[in-house]
Amino acid sequence: MAAKQAVLLFSLILALGFIPLLVFSAQAIPFERLESLRVVKKVNKNGPFLGLITVYAPEEEAFFKTGVFRPDPRHPFVDLSGRRFRIGKVEGKKVIYVKCGVGLVNAAAATQQMLDLFDIKGIIHFGISGNANGSMQIGDVTIPGQLAQTGLWDWLKPNATMEPNDFAQFDFKSYNDPKVGENHLGKVGYSTEQFYSVAGEVNVPQRPVWFNITNNWLHVASHLQGVKLDQCANSTLCLPEKPKLVVGLKGATSNFFIDNAAYTQFLFKTFGVTSLDMESLAVVMTCLSNGYPVIAIRGLSDLAGTQKGDNTIRLFGSLAALNTAKVVIGFVKSLPINHVSRF
Ligand SMILES: *[C@@H]1O[C@H](CO)[C@@H](O)[C@H](O)[C@H]1NC(C)=O
Ligand SMILES: *[C@@H]1O[C@H](CO)[C@@H](O)[C@H](O)[C@H]1NC(C)=O
Ligand SMILES: *[C@@H]1O[C@H](CO)[C@@H](O)[C@H](O)[C@H]1NC(C)=O
Ligand SMILES: *[C@@H]1O[C@H](CO)[C@@H](O)[C@H](O)[C@H]1NC(C)=O
Repeated sequence: MAAKQAVLLFSLILALGFIPLLVFSAQAIPFERLESLRVVKKVNKNGPFLGLITVYAPEEEAFFKTGVFRPDPRHPFVDLSGRRFRIGKVEGKKVIYVKCGVGLVNAAAATQQMLDLFDIKGIIHFGISGNANGSMQIGDVTIPGQLAQTGLWDWLKPNATMEPNDFAQFDFKSYNDPKVGENHLGKVGYSTEQFYSVAGEVNVPQRPVWFNITNNWLHVASHLQGVKLDQCANSTLCLPEKPKLVVGLKGATSNFFIDNAAYTQFLFKTFGVTSLDMESLAVVMTCLSNGYPVIAIRGLSDLAGTQKGDNTIRLFGSLAALNTAKVVIGFVKSLPINHVSRF
């Protein structure tokens, strides 16, 4: 009897002891991920790296078409969460490159993953964008000094009072045509991101509207020389003016692709923004939250709805992406090693 109880007790201890072990060792981390993490560890022995994050296929194609990326023959890439992190060199500097995918969620997730797993010095984010600034042209490249998220909305009834955290509002009825009458879509209050950061108090978010690009990286960018931007998409399709690089303007990020003159003009008038994109703020906010240097480089592919006729992204998207890639390469090249330090 006593022996039988002892055996039962022993089995119970075994079962209780082993269940958590099984859960944690065999199920929590899938085999492929363990395998990738093993490679990550080897890759990091060769770090630190500059992180390069772009968004989607046309930007990736333009970047690789320049031929500057030299893959690391030992570990050319690591796949994590369905994304390919490529390891190599650009202009003699060690880099890890990833294409994050469209939108703020993809951008923030890929950025946080890059910072958490790899030995990263800072992140250079790049891609194409819409242009809201009448003094800028398609083909120009902008390196904003400040970015805001303009898609975090309090969507309210027509005659609601604004929420206290809202810093601007968009009233749908101002855009009625004809003017008279109410608009059931009401109005939108622009809310601020809750910004958690290593520089702030733990668990207490700040509510900045504008996120600042790392100052000394912006300084390096504003002294970039010798980057020749293309004026023609092909032998017959050229832009009227020679494209330029402009550093230090403002940019807006939201989860919307904007091809609407009224809304683009509202954004320019209200926030003074030039580039309109769907990722930059997410990459920048994630880097600043973790205390890493960051810069965003965006080539203007279209006029975000203020153009006559169709959006020009199909005509000039690849030219804008190529000009962007050229500025990225120029920036990597001129980034002095001491400016690659963490803070
Ligand atoms: C707007 O305000 C009016 C009067 O102030 C009120 O009668 C009406 O119900 C309000 N409409 C909405 C949608 O809240
Ligand atoms: C960004 O820079 C401006 C000055 O250019 C400063 O007033 C502001 O506080 C900075 N924002 C943050 C979040 O540090
Ligand atoms: C240049 O691009 C335009 C627009 O895509 C196209 O219509 C035209 O045929 C192209 N020209 C050449 C020479 O490829
Ligand atoms: C628009 O672009 C021009 C040309 O780069 C620049 O000088 C101007 O400051 C920009 N406007 C705003 C509001 O940023």
